[in-house]
Parts: sequence; C-alpha cells; structure tokens
Amino acid sequence: MDSREQLDVLAAIHSTPARRYLKPDPIPDGVLWELLDAAIRGPTGGNRQGWGWVVVKNLEIKRQIQEWYLEGWEQAYGRRREEVIADTEDTGLGKRNFLSAEHLANHLHEAPVWVIPVQRNVHRSLMTGSSVYGAVQNLMLAARAYGIGATLTSLYAAHEEDVKRLLRLPDDASTMGLIPLGYPSRGRWAEPKRVPVEEVTHWDSWGAHYPRD
Ligand SMILES: Cc1cc2nc3c(=O)[nH]c(=O)nc-3n(C[C@H](O)[C@H](O)[C@H](O)COP(=O)(O)O)c2cc1C
Repeated sequence: MDSREQLDVLAAIHSTPARRYLKPDPIPDGVLWELLDAAIRGPTGGNRQGWGWVVVKNLEIKRQIQEWYLEGWEQAYGRRREEVIADTEDTGLGKRNFLSAEHLANHLHEAPVWVIPVQRNVHRSLMTGSSVYGAVQNLMLAARAYGIGATLTSLYAAHEEDVKRLLRLPDDASTMGLIPLGYPSRGRWAEPKRVPVEEVTHWDSWGAHYPRD
C-alpha cells in the first residue's frame, strides 16, 4: 500500500503512543487488511489461534457500545474529573492523558473503524487470554506504519455480555479489547513515557539494578 511510511521496527516501537484524537476519515479496506494480516502473525500458545477479529464500521453498533464505554469511563475516571484536573503535580493518569481519554470516551463512535479481538475459551488458561496481546501490538504497530492511530481500550467491559449479544459472538468467546483506529487529528507520534528501563529491570534476582551506561 502506497500510504505506508518506511519505518525501522525500533523507531516504530519508540513512537507509538495511544492516539485518542482521531478523524472520522475512512480507512481504505486494503489498508485494513494489511493491519489485520499483521495482527494475525502474532504468537499464540501452541499456535492455536483461537481468535477472531471483529471489524466494526456500523454506526449504530458503535453508538451503542460507546454509551456502554462512557458509563465505564464515568465509573473508573470521569467522576474524579475535578480532582485530576486540579492535580498540579500531575500524578497518576495525568491531566493530558485524562483529557485525551475523556475525549475518546465521548467520541469513540466517530473513529471510522474499530477492531475487536475475540478469543475462544479464554477461561481455560491464562495463556489462552494472553495469547492475543502480541497480535494486538502488531496491529497497532502496523497501523503506525500507515499513520493510523490506535488505543487498546477496555472500559466497555462491564457490558461484556451485551457486547457479545450485539456482535453475535459465540458463547465461548470473549472480547479481549476494543481498538478504535483512525487518522490522528491532534497529538504526535511521541515516545511513550515510562519508568526508566533501569528501574524495572532486575538482573538475576529481584532488586538488583544496574545503570545502563
Ligand atoms: C489492558 C489495557 C486496557 C486499556 N484500556 C484503556 C481504555 O479503556 N481506555 C483508554 O483510553 N486507554 C486504555 N488503555 C491504554 C492505556 O491507558 C495506555 O496504554 C497507557 O496510558 C500508556 O499510554 P501511552 O502508550 O500513550 O504512553 C488500556 C491499555 C491496556 C494495556
């Protein structure tokens, strides 16, 4: 696909934050296929691939799930709005992330495409569920290559059964996230901010840290 940026793998990894301000502009199906085909190259335990990838473009479906998502947002974060906005120390989620996540909660349905990874028989073992996340990261990095923003989201989860019914998922299936995709309307491909790698790396035993030099 010609809209693809030639990007070094590490450069892509270091410049793929959550992108929550998205334009409604459509994503060509050819590009979507590329993203999905990158996703399914991810690893699964025993290469079982007990997954399905639900692509949602239908506005009615998106609207309904956005309402459920917004409820989840209010419960988890929205009701602490004043406190977070007033927090000059910017601890925790931080004001900027809060505002971007609030924006997404209100505009989720405007993202032109959602991808909902679905996994069968998740409750059998932890590995079954965790098998999907490498693929999800592949999807988001492939999206990055096309200049398409993404965020792995979960705040609809209190309505999992409703979502399953709406999407007509089989009984043994679970949604593993909801990834809104779209061309970013603001923000940039900045490096994700994290606790420094030296602080979270333990050499041979827990608590043994070395400087990176
Ligand atoms: C399991 C999981 C669930 C998440 N759920 C949500 C969500 O419901 N809504 C949202 O806006 N971001 C969600 N995120 C995105 C995180 O908030 C984001 O990855 C984190 O703040 C780091 O952002 P950054 O990569 O832009 O630095 C989720 C991430 C993960 C891994």
